[in-house]
Amino acid sequence: AETGPAGQEAGERLFEGACAACHTVAGGATNAGGHAFDTPFGTLYSTNITPDEATGIGRWSYAAFERAMRQGIGRDGRHLYPAFPYTAFAKTSDADLQALYAYLMAQPAVSAPPRDNALSFPFNQRALIAPWNALYHDPTPFTPDPAQSELYNRGAYLAEGLGHCSACHSPRNAMGAEQGGERYLAGALVDGWEAPALNTLSRAPIPWSEGALFDYLRTGRADLHGVASGPMAPVVAGLAELPEYDVRAIAHYVARQMDAPVQDDPASAVASERLAAETGPAGQEAGERLFEGACAACHVDNGVPGFTKASTSLALNTNLHSDHPDNVIQSILGGVHDSAVPGTGSMPGFADSFSNTQVATLAAYLRARFAPEAQPWQQLEQRVAEIRRPH
Ligand code: HEC
Ligand code: HEC
Ligand code: HEC
Repeated sequence: AETGPAGQEAGERLFEGACAACHTVAGGATNAGGHAFDTPFGTLYSTNITPDEATGIGRWSYAAFERAMRQGIGRDGRHLYPAFPYTAFAKTSDADLQALYAYLMAQPAVSAPPRDNALSFPFNQRALIAPWNALYHDPTPFTPDPAQSELYNRGAYLAEGLGHCSACHSPRNAMGAEQGGERYLAGALVDGWEAPALNTLSRAPIPWSEGALFDYLRTGRADLHGVASGPMAPVVAGLAELPEYDVRAIAHYVARQMDAPVQDDPASAVASERLAAETGPAGQEAGERLFEGACAACHVDNGVPGFTKASTSLALNTNLHSDHPDNVIQSILGGVHDSAVPGTGSMPGFADSFSNTQVATLAAYLRARFAPEAQPWQQLEQRVAEIRRPH
């Protein structure tokens, strides 16, 4: 199937960054595995996919690699857990899988034995994945929709395949399978973060445009929305390897899921200034004091320019308008770091300086000030404690 734009051969540019985010631990060798995934059933670790013969995939034939990517079955025949998104990777073309295999096999071999998973019974029984696959896994490769443009089909191919956007952005059913139809890209909670809705349920206070989506995916920030942080930062870092056309295609595809216009409406800039002008709510003095003391210097436009200041008003940030406080709590506790996507700005984390009560008080204040139209968040302190708990 023809999936590349005219003049570009399929597989010419790889999407290998799609693997490193899960197969690399902070400070560890690229793709040597050991990244922990906390699930309700226990902890699972990614494996070494460097070409080391003893501990990696050095002895894997292309056929074994393809079977893993399309069917979720390892070289020794064991079923792989769908935390490895083969459900998305199966959509990849043969040419791209071959190029990916050649690329991985040409990387430095790193000896790193796999870590033992700590999963509870019955989830430690890999045989159970076979009936799961029969129910929920469709291994059919991507087929372009002839009724859609080349740009749309290219975006769909990348977003649904190696980009595996829905692995984080679609909610899952009780069996851990992604939901489709109207629930496709409807937003989901992953690893203590919320991957916001990318369909018409988006809570972005200024609606996304295709141009803004491109800016966000290409540079990690969009003027009327803010920055890509947390688990989205490595995704943007991976997309940086792709040619501009491919990122435009993904932005176009997402924009179509959202019914978004091509460019920002000129009225959006005016609306954004009005939103940013909101002042503090009454009756939340404790929260206001915390905000003035720790945050306002960077987050309020007082006319004094500053190198470290935030570039986007919190009033424009989707996370402040969501039903879930998770991303705001994560940002306060862990800060924002531009290590994955340089230039997006950084802020310190406050996990060591604020108690759970203080984080909850501050989050309630931010909600009331920057999303005054929304319902207050409930049970904030409990959520802060859950998110703070070390893994
Ligand atoms: C969302 C996280 C995630 C991403 C992204 C991801 N993987 Fe994995 N991968 C895993 C996990 C977790 C496992 C271990 C699964 C298991 O033990 O059942 C795994 C296992 C594998 C295996 C089986 C290895 C073995 O020794 O059995 C291969 C091959 C693999 N991944 C290749 C890739 C490639 C190639 C990419 C990039 C295109 C990629 N993975 C991206 C999470 C991920
Ligand atoms: C590993 C999980 C993960 C994957 C995979 C992922 N995302 Fe995200 N995404 C997130 C999280 C978490 C956020 C919130 C980040 C923040 O607030 O800083 C986010 C935010 C976004 C936003 C901003 C939404 C808003 O309203 O603020 C867009 C757009 C987006 N992702 C698009 C994509 C696309 C397109 C893909 C596939 C190429 C993708 N994401 C893959 C987790 C993920
Ligand atoms: C040293 C400057 C600085 C300080 C202090 C600071 N921030 Fe930030 N903050 C930033 C920058 C830079 C960003 C990146 C976004 C941007 O530039 O718009 C950011 C982003 C955020 C985000 C959005 C993160 C995301 O991924 O959506 C939230 C929420 C936030 N800050 C809250 C706070 C709160 C609450 C405080 C006080 C406890 C605080 N910040 C203190 C500089 C700062």
